[in-house]
Amino acid sequence: MKKITIAIDGFSSTGKSTLAKQLARQLGYVYVDTGAMYRAVTYFAMQNGFVKENYLDKEGLIKELSNIQLQFQLNYDLGFAEMYLNDVNVEEPIRTIDVSRNVSQIAEISEVRAKLVEQQQAMGRNKAIVMDGRDIGTVVFPDAELKLFMNASAETRAQRRFEELVEKGQNVTFQEVLENVQQRDYIDTHREDSPLVKAGDAIEIDNSAMSKKEQFELVMKLIEEKI
Ligand code: C5P
Repeated sequence: MKKITIAIDGFSSTGKSTLAKQLARQLGYVYVDTGAMYRAVTYFAMQNGFVKENYLDKEGLIKELSNIQLQFQLNYDLGFAEMYLNDVNVEEPIRTIDVSRNVSQIAEISEVRAKLVEQQQAMGRNKAIVMDGRDIGTVVFPDAELKLFMNASAETRAQRRFEELVEKGQNVTFQEVLENVQQRDYIDTHREDSPLVKAGDAIEIDNSAMSKKEQFELVMKLIEEKI
């Protein structure tokens, strides 16, 4: 069977990672959550005082980039990889609303993007990979055999994200989550370097009214045509 590269892009909280994990499991492919990498750099920046409320020391962070080591390590119990920042598991802290509030301004920095894109391309060298993010089909793997662009209404997405955060015990309101989703979408689509945009050859999926199972089955049909 032919091994392919699957690029999944789209707006915040459109269920990209849920779908990507399902596909990777079904196909025996590697799954890479590139958002986790941008979140880990943001967490580093917050921990080291490069970003605070209304403050960003961009040059300082750029100088520190060589001291940021990102690695995915498989968690055998969960069955998927977790994000490590300088050898520390940061899966939990990178998912907080505070990191979500800062991540898009960190992801605007070209030097950050260049570092992460290089690592992402190296991970995909042997294909058999499902990668999700904002620029996977346009910048990281412009030759990916299958490109998906996910969308859903902002309210649907915020509601899903809100439920996830509440389940994890985080103290947030629906309004805060909705505002964060809208703010990130705005910055991600308007930035100069690698803005979020649908690749010309990507297939758009609006899953506002679709179950996870329906979506998975639809995408598996698309994959079967390619492998
Ligand atoms: O996917 P997730 O919502 O966790 O991504 C967090 C943020 O990281 C996005 O809002 C975006 O600013 C940034 N990002 C990016 N390019 C990617 C993946 C994520 O700019 N490939």
